Amino acid sequence: MAETAKPLTMDTIVSLCRRRGFVFPSSEIYGGLGATYDYGHYGVLTKNNIRALWLRAMVQERDDIVALDSSVILNPRVWEASGHVTEFTDPLVDCRTCKLRFRADQLELASCGRKPSKRPGETPDCDLTEPRQFNLMFETHVGALQDESSTAYLRPETAQGIFINFKNVAQLARRKPPFGIAQVGKSFRNEITPGNFIFRLREFEQMEMEFFVPPAEADEWHRYWIDARYRWYLDLGLRDENLRIREHDADERSHYSLATSDLEYLYPIGWQELEGVSNRGDYDLTQHTRESGTKLEWIDPDGTRYTPYVIEPAVSIDRIMLAFLCDAYHEEVVGDRERVVLRLHPRVAPVKAAILPLVPRDEGMAARARVLYEELRRHHIVEHDDSGQIGRRYRRQDEIGTPWAFTVDEQTLEDETVTVRDRDSLAQERLPMSGVREWLDDALARDWSSPHSR
Ligand code: GAP
Repeated sequence: MAETAKPLTMDTIVSLCRRRGFVFPSSEIYGGLGATYDYGHYGVLTKNNIRALWLRAMVQERDDIVALDSSVILNPRVWEASGHVTEFTDPLVDCRTCKLRFRADQLELASCGRKPSKRPGETPDCDLTEPRQFNLMFETHVGALQDESSTAYLRPETAQGIFINFKNVAQLARRKPPFGIAQVGKSFRNEITPGNFIFRLREFEQMEMEFFVPPAEADEWHRYWIDARYRWYLDLGLRDENLRIREHDADERSHYSLATSDLEYLYPIGWQELEGVSNRGDYDLTQHTRESGTKLEWIDPDGTRYTPYVIEPAVSIDRIMLAFLCDAYHEEVVGDRERVVLRLHPRVAPVKAAILPLVPRDEGMAARARVLYEELRRHHIVEHDDSGQIGRRYRRQDEIGTPWAFTVDEQTLEDETVTVRDRDSLAQERLPMSGVREWLDDALARDWSSPHSR
């Protein structure tokens, strides 16, 4: 196998996602809507896996974190108290010439609307306004009246739904700090400079965990969560040369943050934030205590009261999926043929195995393949494919990242064994058909690392 040495571009990933039905632009028949995307079959399956793996690490495998699913639309006072109404802004400039809008703090990443395109402000025609603050929250109205009194917001983060439920959950879950509340759900931001596919969306699915700790332990837990989240990505096969930790300078931290470190991934657009891990101090619980009048504090059995500090790992499924796709994408030459292969961790891959009758019109092979497929699909997402040449069927599965293919062939008719083909090494071995289910369970439980980092 020889690898082709082209640098990966975002267009390559966009095109694979479209071709294979992972992700496509939303509202496309009406011309689309900026930075909104719809997930197709394989995209949904991959997202489901990422969500389940996160919940597994956060909730299932721990006894100090519980789950929550709070509303998308909250009382608007939540966002006043949290500081989002005044602070959740980006500096925006307009160009009076090309009529485009840019983030004033990211002009070096933007392109001006005129040809030949340059950075905004670099051509003699550019006529930029002074920066002004632009709030990123989407406004809506609750109830029949559409005036100021009915204004509400689509949540820009899931975290606030957790803070306002701190008292409920702490009592009901019978946990004491350090303990956490995890939530997965849609968040919405009216981003000024969307783009770069699913990296920066206006509607995305966040996974956030707020870990409430005694203030004196906050630094230690912050370090712990940065390390734990870094390890989670490596365990799921992300190559460590593409992942790094970067601590925020004081002037780039959010209004609530005492300290933040980003886990950055080397996307085709460069090193960018994949996940943020912040020490939010007691900012949120203190603000909600003050504004709501409900004390959000912890009282120890000995009567000691304190407002816990909060350590928050926060990420979107969309950014994780983009990182996994970029990391997994490979073009290589096998024999005299090029193949595109997605080397996804088998637990992330949308389809775990393909069941392929070598000669579909052979009734013996077709029937056996169907029986195997029907047995396996009770336990895993698997695909049965009986259309086209076998080589083409393998390549289709390679492109969606299916780790194994079980092929029913002439020998199966004689001895009830099948061939298993490995996506990464292309090695083939024979297995008794009756042992395939167990083989697949074992294979999915094994550790996996990308052959490219060995
Ligand atoms: N509660 C803290 C918070 O929301 P953030 O750094 O603004 O902090 C956390 O967002 C994570 O959510 C990011 O690291 C990224 O993974 C994801 N995220 C933020 N904005 C996004 C967007 N417009 N599109 C996709 N994902 C986004």
